[in-house]
Amino acid sequence: MKIAFLGGGNMASALIGGLIAKGTDPRSISVVEMSPAARDKLGERHKVHLSSAPDAETQHADVLVLAVKPQDMQRALAPLSGFSREKLVVSVAAGITLKSLTRWLDGHRKIVRCMPNTPALIGAGITGLFASPEVGKNEREKAETILRAVGDVVWMPEERLLDPVTAVSASGPAYVFWFIEQLAASAVKLGIPKDAALKMAKQTVLGSAMLASQSAESPETLRKNVTSKGGTTEAALKVFDEAKLAEHFARAVAAASKRGEEMGREFGGD
Ligand SMILES: NC(=O)c1ccc[n+]([C@@H]2O[C@H](COP(=O)([O-])OP(=O)(O)OC[C@H]3O[C@@H](n4cnc5c(N)ncnc54)[C@H](OP(=O)(O)O)[C@@H]3O)[C@@H](O)[C@H]2O)c1
Repeated sequence: MKIAFLGGGNMASALIGGLIAKGTDPRSISVVEMSPAARDKLGERHKVHLSSAPDAETQHADVLVLAVKPQDMQRALAPLSGFSREKLVVSVAAGITLKSLTRWLDGHRKIVRCMPNTPALIGAGITGLFASPEVGKNEREKAETILRAVGDVVWMPEERLLDPVTAVSASGPAYVFWFIEQLAASAVKLGIPKDAALKMAKQTVLGSAMLASQSAESPETLRKNVTSKGGTTEAALKVFDEAKLAEHFARAVAAASKRGEEMGREFGGD
């Protein structure tokens, strides 16, 4: 499978690094990247074909991966309106709808929209995907192969669910980083030295996430297992409940989802 990337920034680099690590021949990858600095950086790391504008390698690729920022997408796609309609297009751009991509690609319909997240940079991502009805089983597998190079994948049954996916897993790492910051800051307030506080907060999140992921028990059961009646954890969770933290959290995630929807309209003109 020959893969062309449009945009060679952070997400494209993560995908290219993951694909090559999993055995893809770098010579089957081409990248269109406008920025000379980003091109040099990619060229130093991988022996892929690089160009500053779409060329024959781009047009001959089996799959075109769209990895420019949402606000740059319309302009970046203008020279690609002739890309064969029989080939697969995979977009990782936040918020840009299939409708906008089809319009900017002059009627192209074989498109998979994906929403990866930043842990993809270390191969530990999770990507939500949605395929247009014109995408066949083999093509879904091609899209999956590309995104599996940087982590796990989950298919969504409806395109509109990519906004909640953005709110949950793409913005999600920021919620977790915020939690680490707060846990460490609370530890410092209680007298634990700063370095030790941060180390404990990070490892607590990492260890708990690994336990939740590997255990047969649900996160709810794991939480209950830690919460003895009249104990320390119960005292903390009681404060969360009194502050209606669960309600605030749900509102925060819903706000992120709504913003994703609005951004789709802003950048896509839908
Ligand atoms: N990073 C993430 O964690 C993440 C997660 C989910 C989804 N995404 C999506 O992934 C996409 C890329 O994000 P990113 O973080 O990788 O951005 P990025 O690092 O800014 O990479 C995009 C690259 O594309 C270049 N570019 C802009 N216009 C171009 C054009 N017409 N032709 C060729 N190259 C062009 C940019 O150059 P200049 O800098 O010179 O403009 C930049 O180097 C976005 O749509 C984003 O929504 C990213």
